[in-house]
Amino acid sequence: MTLTPTQLKAFDEQGYLFLPDCFAADEVAVLRAEAERIYQSDRQEVWREKSGAPRTAFAAHTYNQAFRLLGAHPRLIAPVEQLFGEQLYMHQFKINAKAPFDGELWQWHQDYGTWARDDGMPEPRAMNISVFLDEVLPINGPLMFIPRSHKQGTLAAGHDTTTTSYPLWTLDHETVKRLADEGGIVAPTGKPGGVLLFHGNLVHGSTANITPYGRIIVYLTLCAVSNHIRKPTRPDWIAHRDFTPIVPVADDALLQYARRYKTAAE
Ligand code: SIN
Ligand code: MN
Repeated sequence: MTLTPTQLKAFDEQGYLFLPDCFAADEVAVLRAEAERIYQSDRQEVWREKSGAPRTAFAAHTYNQAFRLLGAHPRLIAPVEQLFGEQLYMHQFKINAKAPFDGELWQWHQDYGTWARDDGMPEPRAMNISVFLDEVLPINGPLMFIPRSHKQGTLAAGHDTTTTSYPLWTLDHETVKRLADEGGIVAPTGKPGGVLLFHGNLVHGSTANITPYGRIIVYLTLCAVSNHIRKPTRPDWIAHRDFTPIVPVADDALLQYARRYKTAAE
């Protein structure tokens, strides 16, 4: 899957791109079932909200076969390789839950702010490519973006370790207001199987989920190999140290796995 000139232009101008219908229902079903199984497990990689509900499961591509196949999926790797013009490694891999009623907010931030400050990543040549496993609705805590804010470089930020269970370099209200006055705020929504990619410097956040509708999104953070992190401070299951280029699997590898999984469950 390659991006068209129109998509490349939109990404460059706006800082994000939504690609609907990237994954089929069977592929999403196996990922969703495995995400729930991981959330129920007692692993250090599963972070919880203050309520105990799952918030983020890290590094599932290293211990779960369905997510291993997703982490090397050509439909995700190819567009990012195209954008960076080189091979990629996995800097971070998260399955973010936004549990029904309990999912807490993510404050306004730029991801590269954290990758630079906490991990020593030289340039914003890494980005998030997210896969919707649930329908992302306007009401269940979708990601909110400030379009074009990726053109602002890395903004000053404060380290917030108290608002949620997840420490984050967050932006102050004045900065967010200034940028939102210029670019507005959008919240891309879509069906399970949709993919949203966004620039490492795009300002984003999301509200709490007080609805009965969960919102699981998987985030691959794909980094250009030459831009590997230099000064990691976080555990290696949060900021990976394996800089081996990802070799994509076959396009139907996840689908074949999903079919075997479905048959075994029947
Ligand atoms: C993030 O910004 O890293 C996660 C936001 C979300 O899942 O809502
Ligand atoms: Mn983020």
